[in-house]
Amino acid sequence: MSLDASKLLEQIKELPAMPNVIVKALGIIKDDTSGTKELSDIMAYDQALTSQVLKLVNSAYYGFAQEITSVSKALALLGMTQTRNIIIAVAMKPMLTSQGGRDMWKHSLRCGVAAECLANMTGVADPADAFTIGFLHDIGKILLNIADTMTYQKVRTMVKNGEDVIDAENDMFETNHADLGFLLAKKWKLSVLLANCIKYHHDPLSSSMPQVSTLAYLANKISHDEPDLFDEDLVKEQLGLEVSRVMELRETVIEKSNALFSTLGS
Ligand SMILES: [Fe+2]
Ligand SMILES: [Fe+2]
Repeated sequence: MSLDASKLLEQIKELPAMPNVIVKALGIIKDDTSGTKELSDIMAYDQALTSQVLKLVNSAYYGFAQEITSVSKALALLGMTQTRNIIIAVAMKPMLTSQGGRDMWKHSLRCGVAAECLANMTGVADPADAFTIGFLHDIGKILLNIADTMTYQKVRTMVKNGEDVIDAENDMFETNHADLGFLLAKKWKLSVLLANCIKYHHDPLSSSMPQVSTLAYLANKISHDEPDLFDEDLVKEQLGLEVSRVMELRETVIEKSNALFSTLGS
């Protein structure tokens, strides 16, 4: 762990708090006996969130024939983990868009979908965990933006001009979004699996969980508007996937996530 990440974290006077509803929603999966009722109860206190969630559940993404008018009905049809993922995505939107712009929100959601699809395809992670891994993988970027927005803008320009994101951040901030995201994940008490994937999504072989970190790595690579090149040998070795299958999967991911953006207002 680079010392510089914790130094930067100390400089930020007010660390963003994880939205309360997410703290609760993430806590619930550990205790599945009471989950369904608890999730409904949480939603009952947040009408704005409930209406967004129901809008999404009724979107083309899920394609249910009947209209779903309550959270409890959504839970019955989609199951707890899918509903929980929707809640997380909707509840994080304000923080992601205010700190990282529309691009970050879009990339995060797409990466959540990609990770979930990859988990279904390979079995290296629980698909429900995978969505959260993909969705939160770049969360450290919001800290760079909070620490120094102007400098972070420069980093974004450097990346647009083809520089490696981790190199650019290390140059400008002496730390990077992977290390910062890891620290934030620990502050937010996210699972070890999640924190690990956040830390190693640009360097999966350094992880003690290389398979699932490679899943996060690949989900990220295929979730940009222009797909990034990825290490084909690594992907084959860790996930057993050929390039052609990955590119096919990317098509599905783009289609699915576009259906989500059009509902949630990308
Ligand atoms: Fe990243
Ligand atoms: Fe990313």
